[in-house]
Amino acid sequence: MKKNTATLQLSKEEMRAYGYQVVDAVVEHFETQNEKLPVAKASRAEMDHLFLEEAPENATDAKQVLDFVLKEVVTQSTIVSHPKAFSFVPGPSNYISAMADTLATGFNIFSGGWAASPAAAELEVVTLNWLLKIFGFPVKKGGGIFTSGGSLANLTAIVTARRIKCGDDFSNAAIYLSDQAHSSNIKAIRILGFRKEQIRIIPTNTEFKFSINKLKNAIAKDRLEGLKPFCLIATAGTTNTGTVDPLTEIAAICKKENIWFHIDGAYGGAAILSKDGKKMLKGIEKADSLTVDPHKWFYQPYEMGCLLVRNIAHLKGTFTETPEYLKDVEGNKSEINFYDHGIQLTRRFRALKFYMSIKTFGLKEFREAITYNIKLAEEVEDCLRTSPYWEVISPATLAVVNFRYNPISHKLNEKQLDELNQYISEKVVATQEALLVTTILHGQTVLRMCLINPRTTMDDIKETFKLCNEIAKTHKLIQ
Ligand SMILES: Cc1ncc(COP(=O)(O)O)c(C=O)c1O
Repeated sequence: MKKNTATLQLSKEEMRAYGYQVVDAVVEHFETQNEKLPVAKASRAEMDHLFLEEAPENATDAKQVLDFVLKEVVTQSTIVSHPKAFSFVPGPSNYISAMADTLATGFNIFSGGWAASPAAAELEVVTLNWLLKIFGFPVKKGGGIFTSGGSLANLTAIVTARRIKCGDDFSNAAIYLSDQAHSSNIKAIRILGFRKEQIRIIPTNTEFKFSINKLKNAIAKDRLEGLKPFCLIATAGTTNTGTVDPLTEIAAICKKENIWFHIDGAYGGAAILSKDGKKMLKGIEKADSLTVDPHKWFYQPYEMGCLLVRNIAHLKGTFTETPEYLKDVEGNKSEINFYDHGIQLTRRFRALKFYMSIKTFGLKEFREAITYNIKLAEEVEDCLRTSPYWEVISPATLAVVNFRYNPISHKLNEKQLDELNQYISEKVVATQEALLVTTILHGQTVLRMCLINPRTTMDDIKETFKLCNEIAKTHKLIQ
């Protein structure tokens, strides 16, 4: 047979030159990102014009493809690590973890089972133990798994809750979450095939927290109607306002009612590393399962979510399968196969970036960065309160603050304020200088800042407010 030359390989020199160019581009990005415009804007037609083509049958020079990608692809994305990327949940990231991801991909480490990669499995155990300890979960009995993100961690938790509390019959099972719970939870519930009548969305109070009274009523009524309350999802740091549900009270209800207590701490969980955050998150240690999302406020690049559980037997009991083709690699009990803890068999080596960045910077630097973020949001709140143009709608909570433009010189009604603030957001985004979008709180259109970037300064905020003021003055309601 003719020797195969289709090996998808480059020469050593070509690989080096290519790799150096990639690293140079990433370093340049880290060095200059603060000065770039954070917002990417391009229409489908423009993108089609640039990229749309048939899969090429023949080769193109590697450098040419890379140059094209560096020029046209990576430049056409919102810089979520930019100090003025205030919206959604930004992704501040860090260089060590970006390089760790490059290593994990470069070596293509299979992080599914012990037999294939004992060091990868061990580092996942070690880093999960760090997190278990940080969140006050039992380290010996507890455990967890790294996932692609918070959505997958929430899905993994709800499947586990259902398996443990309901077994195979969940036809009359009921699940509880608040109207401020993240949409990924509802998505997960839908994926799992629950009917609408099995899902209870409990209204929140004026502070956007789970209404305990309404929750108790709902559980009691469901029991009277023959339903089986099996899982409750509380949020530790809601996406809209950073609010933490009354975790200790909810934990007591779940215990009394034999309901699985899941906490979605995807956004706010990391705040436990700061003194104030730890106080606010009191009760988080009582959950049966907890989602945290290292690719948010633990400053990791995408994709990295995490599910922690109080009792690892619950994850194993839900996800372990023993097909004949894996029997030779099962190993002994102490050798952990993460494919038995979750949905994926083949998994990338996510633990590496968490391990390398925490080792390199030390937890102390993470604590200081998170504390800075919380204080910065509080300073922003103060600045808004003392301004004649702005009003605070939801106070700084775990680095999130919501506000609106409402100048004391103009007596505007609710409808006008909604219109004006929507206008400000759209025009700010159109300048590409800051990513500042709206959300809706109690029916009001408000501007929201999520301040988890440790490189964001008060100057960045003041420049953004100045821009907003200038834009507001161009609206007919203000002229
Ligand atoms: C509270 C909360 N839960 C879950 C998620 C979903 O996480 P991911 O986007 O990593 O899937 C988010 C995302 O913003 C979130 O804020």
